[in-house]
Amino acid sequence: MSLPERLYPVLKPWLFRMDAERAHEWTTRALRWSHALGLVSRVAPPDGASVQVMGLSFPNRLGLAAGMDKSASTYAAWAALGLGAVEVGTLTPRPQSGNPRPRLFRLPEHDALINRMGFNNPGIAAAVARLKHRRTSAIVGVNIGKNFDTPNEDAVEDYRTAFRAAYPVADYIAINISSPNTKGLRDLQGEEAMRKLLGTLRREQERLTEEHRVRRPLVVKLAPDLDGGQVEGIARVLNEMAVDGVIATNTTISREGITGHPLAHETGGLSGAPVRERSDLMLQALRMLLREATPIIGVGGILSGTDAQAKRRLGAELLQVYTGLVFRGPPLIRDVLQTDLEV
Ligand SMILES: Cc1cc2nc3c(=O)[nH]c(=O)nc-3n(C[C@H](O)[C@H](O)[C@H](O)COP(=O)(O)O)c2cc1C
Repeated sequence: MSLPERLYPVLKPWLFRMDAERAHEWTTRALRWSHALGLVSRVAPPDGASVQVMGLSFPNRLGLAAGMDKSASTYAAWAALGLGAVEVGTLTPRPQSGNPRPRLFRLPEHDALINRMGFNNPGIAAAVARLKHRRTSAIVGVNIGKNFDTPNEDAVEDYRTAFRAAYPVADYIAINISSPNTKGLRDLQGEEAMRKLLGTLRREQERLTEEHRVRRPLVVKLAPDLDGGQVEGIARVLNEMAVDGVIATNTTISREGITGHPLAHETGGLSGAPVRERSDLMLQALRMLLREATPIIGVGGILSGTDAQAKRRLGAELLQVYTGLVFRGPPLIRDVLQTDLEV
């Protein structure tokens, strides 16, 4: 077992007494330093674990979800823990500081978090500069969004700017239209708005493929709070646009499963165990509606190898974790990678 795996269970009670965002900053710094000192050793994936998805070779099926490394400063250390992919961001064209603190809350009774971070990030250019000196063999996705003060009418320009900037350094680019913490962002999941946005980005992708002589997959990240009709409409557009992949899902604005909790009234996206069922239902619906060739990245409520296996059985090619790492720590990575994910 590597140092972070052994240390996390010991440090967790101390970290959990700290404000959640401070604990995140502390952990991130400690992980970065441990990695720089060569103290992080990879969980050896089972033989033949590497998989080809979207034309990319993923060392294994488990990745880090967006939001943990918003600035692309720690991706190599996360990958060194054994993750096959790291999705950095969400990154916006201009830097922004996000919502006032406190904006991240733990609900340990439910293995859940509520966050309203609001895309705090150093801006796409700063992240791209870091990614130019790539220090990992894992897949690195770049997740992009719009600035909070860009009106939805101009959102396409924000995404186009970030897409162009990310293109040379990203293995894939994820379009985030599903965060609940940027006003109006989820409206971009409406059929017409999405057709306009994805149409522009697909054309940009074709142009950049010519220019750079390499094709970067375009992936769309969706919310779990959509009814049957909305999901059908979205799937129609995603099929029409022939996107390269879909991420299901982001956090939920629902408070189902945590009613009565003293923090349930906090505004923001709920993640972890309470979002699992919704994410799984979305995954299942999308798997039925999307073209067979479109891979789905399953995320939301993976807290064990069994949860990961369930998403694989519902049709996810790849998996991502965030909240599970807060509550289970690096041992979750070993748990998932040692579970049979070949369905
Ligand atoms: C504190 C926090 C910040 C997040 N920030 C982002 C983000 O910037 N962009 C994004 O696409 N998703 C973001 N997410 C959503 C996660 O990537 C993931 O989709 C969601 O939390 C569900 O997975 P989980 O239950 O494993 O956490 C964030 C989640 C949390 C808890």
